[in-house]
Amino acid sequence: MIADQIVSCLEQVGDRCKDPTALVYERLFSANPEMKPLFIMDGNDAVKGQMLFQVLDGIIDFVGDRRYAETLFLSELINHDIIGVPPRVFSTFFRTIMETFRDIMGADWTAEFDQAWAQLLSDLDEMIREKAEVA
Ligand code: HEM
Repeated sequence: MIADQIVSCLEQVGDRCKDPTALVYERLFSANPEMKPLFIMDGNDAVKGQMLFQVLDGIIDFVGDRRYAETLFLSELINHDIIGVPPRVFSTFFRTIMETFRDIMGADWTAEFDQAWAQLLSDLDEMIREKAEVA
């Protein structure tokens, strides 16, 4: 089960960094500068923080009993397509979260975290591909 590793990783990241929002979006925008203008309405970064926490909640549910993750991701695929965020960008965002957390963990990033995230990113990609066909 990857759930234990992912939850433990998120907890340890939380211990080291109270709010990783700025780090995640800095990384996102430096690799994908074209995404920055999409957040033009978000002057005080409240939307970015809110969005990241919803994504992390969704991930925790996705690795666990999947009570709402699939509905959440499907509805956000539809909502985001309307504001100019295509489905393929979701993979970029998920990967950016992993890379940011790997940086925050530094030497304490484990091989188990690495494997669990690789599996998670691949599962999320598959789900997004399926949902994008429906959406
Ligand atoms: C599962 C993935 C995602 C979830 C659950 C999610 C969730 C959300 C939520 C809840 C909001 C509204 C926040 C608020 O108004 O308080 C939002 C806004 C937004 N999201 Fe996402 N999002 C996801 C993926 C993405 C991705 C991959 C991008 C692309 C970079 C993106 C770009 C945006 C933008 C541009 C806004 C509007 C910002 C604004 O109004 O200025 N989202 N998202």
